[in-house]
Amino acid sequence: MIFLRVIALLALLPGISAGEEGLPVSPAGAPAVTAAEVTAAEVTAAPPVAGQPDGAEATEAAAPAPPPKPQVDWSQVKNPVAADAASVARGQALYAGKGMCSICHGEKGDGFGPVRGQFSPFPNALIDPAWHQRFSDGQLMGVLTEGKLGTGMVPFIPDFLTEDEGWDIVNFIRTLNGHTTEAYEKHQVELRKEEERKQEALKKEAF
Ligand code: HEC
Repeated sequence: MIFLRVIALLALLPGISAGEEGLPVSPAGAPAVTAAEVTAAEVTAAPPVAGQPDGAEATEAAAPAPPPKPQVDWSQVKNPVAADAASVARGQALYAGKGMCSICHGEKGDGFGPVRGQFSPFPNALIDPAWHQRFSDGQLMGVLTEGKLGTGMVPFIPDFLTEDEGWDIVNFIRTLNGHTTEAYEKHQVELRKEEERKQEALKKEAF
């Protein structure tokens, strides 16, 4: 049945409609098919619909999908670029410039970039020591390469940054560890108050 579906799909494609000039349809060397036969095939096989299993099957048969990318265990990936002053300086320039990190994560890494309000969740701060501990350099590289699903964090490598540029940015981000800003402190205080209000409300509900 798969064969019939492929024929039906080929017949539906513009430009290679079956038998127009008496040409064989199948590039795979199968016997030439006449328009009449294809029409019969179309009748027997359900027409492929994009997004449904049948359609997908036929498309795959016609053009094999590229092999899936191998999964990377980013926790095992070592930073090959020494975190010297030159790399940090390059990273800082990329963070504010070509990498565009600062428009979301803030120039000082406090999470208060000018477009932060567009995103839910907000772009996070990159200054919190506890946050730094949670990630190895390789894992930060993983976020830059794969993005963070379900957030505004898209993959930056290789489309916007090279790998070396990514490592420079990682080296720069490490220098932000422990820096805080007024906006960040205020936000932390508000978060704590919000948490206290929640806990109070829960207590009241419990009794
Ligand atoms: C368009 C806005 C935007 C840009 C530009 C952007 N980010 Fe993000 N980033 C986000 C958002 C939103 C998240 C998700 C925050 C969350 O999960 O709480 C995020 C998450 C991250 C995380 C993972 C944080 C975590 O705790 O999981 C890292 C690391 C990061 N960004 C670094 C960068 C770097 C470095 C750049 C520049 C190359 C950059 N981002 C550019 C919006 C952005």
